Amino acid sequence: MSPRAWIQAHKEALLAQLVTFLRFPSVSAQPTHRSDLHATATWLKETLQGLGFAVELLGDPPVVHAFQAGPPEAPTVLFYGHYDVQPPDPLALWESPPFEPRITAEAIYARGACDDKGQVFAHLAAWQYFKETLGRLPVSLHVVIEGEEETGSDTLYEVLAGKGTAWRSDAVIVSDTAFFSEAFPTLTVGLRGLLYTEIRVKGPARDLHSGTLGGVVANPALALAAILTALKGPDGRVRIPGFYEGIRPPLPAERAAWRELPADEAYYLSLTGAPALAGEVGFSPLERVSVRPTLDVNGLWSGYTGPGAKTIIPAEAGAKVSMRLVPGQDPERIWEAYKRFVMEVAPPGVTLTVDKLHEPAPAFETPTDSPFYRAAEEAIARAFGRKPIPLREGGSIPVLPALQQAAEGAPVILMGFGLPSDAIHSPNEHFRLRQLWGGIEAAVYWYARVGGLSVSG
Ligand code: BES
Ligand code: MN
Ligand code: MN
Repeated sequence: MSPRAWIQAHKEALLAQLVTFLRFPSVSAQPTHRSDLHATATWLKETLQGLGFAVELLGDPPVVHAFQAGPPEAPTVLFYGHYDVQPPDPLALWESPPFEPRITAEAIYARGACDDKGQVFAHLAAWQYFKETLGRLPVSLHVVIEGEEETGSDTLYEVLAGKGTAWRSDAVIVSDTAFFSEAFPTLTVGLRGLLYTEIRVKGPARDLHSGTLGGVVANPALALAAILTALKGPDGRVRIPGFYEGIRPPLPAERAAWRELPADEAYYLSLTGAPALAGEVGFSPLERVSVRPTLDVNGLWSGYTGPGAKTIIPAEAGAKVSMRLVPGQDPERIWEAYKRFVMEVAPPGVTLTVDKLHEPAPAFETPTDSPFYRAAEEAIARAFGRKPIPLREGGSIPVLPALQQAAEGAPVILMGFGLPSDAIHSPNEHFRLRQLWGGIEAAVYWYARVGGLSVSG
């Protein structure tokens, strides 16, 4: 039976199963959801056992590891995904509750629908296809699904450190990225790295009356504002000394491939809803979201923010500041330069602390000359009707370098099926059903091709 016909015949059952997966509020950032992470891992364990895998749960929150042997001569593949999700906040902006999946003619709405449960599910369905139609998988398969991707992958890093070569594989397959658009399928060939920091500025020992004592102390909120504005110029360039040193420019062939994409200003205006675009001078919007590094403030707090006026000089101010890094930038070197720069530009009269909130991750690149990459090109072309364009993605999956190491340097294939309009990390996250069905089909074609099996379209 062709994958397309099989999917058609199983749509109802597959959606019901995905709904079950999405109903778990597996929010890794919030301690109250610890037991939900365990429940989700247990559901995955049982589901994978039903598909013929030997399954173990490792660490807390559990990393789900499963293995199933394929034909003796077939390659070994490692699938990676994550079952944790971002907090659903702000709840009031959801049109239906985030953990009560809603299915329309076009899409399934829920937190995690696209990032990453829906995409993990595309592979679960593909494995089910092989079990039902072939009685086995076309490859030997390690499955690794973690519950902490959104918070820094601590447990998976630990598990990987203790694994040695047990997860040696010939290729790593990941579906946790997006197409450029529905009309332009893409294969992600790179991800930006991430350096995530927090700055805390302390002034007076307590909030002060801004009248009786205003004029004798530095205001931490203003001091923090001065630091933040020093970090980036009006030309959109990051001012940290050496920040741009060593960056490898994109290859001419990469640039040529992008010219096919309608990535003009209007496209990014509609995607963002911002009144105007901004960013580093001298680069196109597509370059600015993929091959150029950035620095952004992700959170900012100080003083009184409730209704009405309160006359204080706040005792403290804080900001979360993160940088997206590109190939050639060394996260540790940039961390040191950043810290030194923040200390230098801080105005007198305050004390500060600068901390890292995650293990800094370098940018990640994938080769495009492996048979596994070509299998992904072919799989997407068959399932979505158009050859994918290779594109670097601005987001990050920081654990991938460590995972690739555990797979002994095997090529990593980033065959994601999301869309930039899916609202991941935002209210009303969804996954287009066209992408779900196409994703299952593409996954089937990929495993089949890699295992040297031919399946009819
Ligand atoms: N799946 C995303 C990364 C992503 C998003 C890749 C869109 C391609 C397109 C992943 O779950 C994620 O959100 N990563 C975080 C990093 C993490 C440490 C919080 C990110 O990029 O902000
Ligand atoms: Mn993700
Ligand atoms: Mn995410």
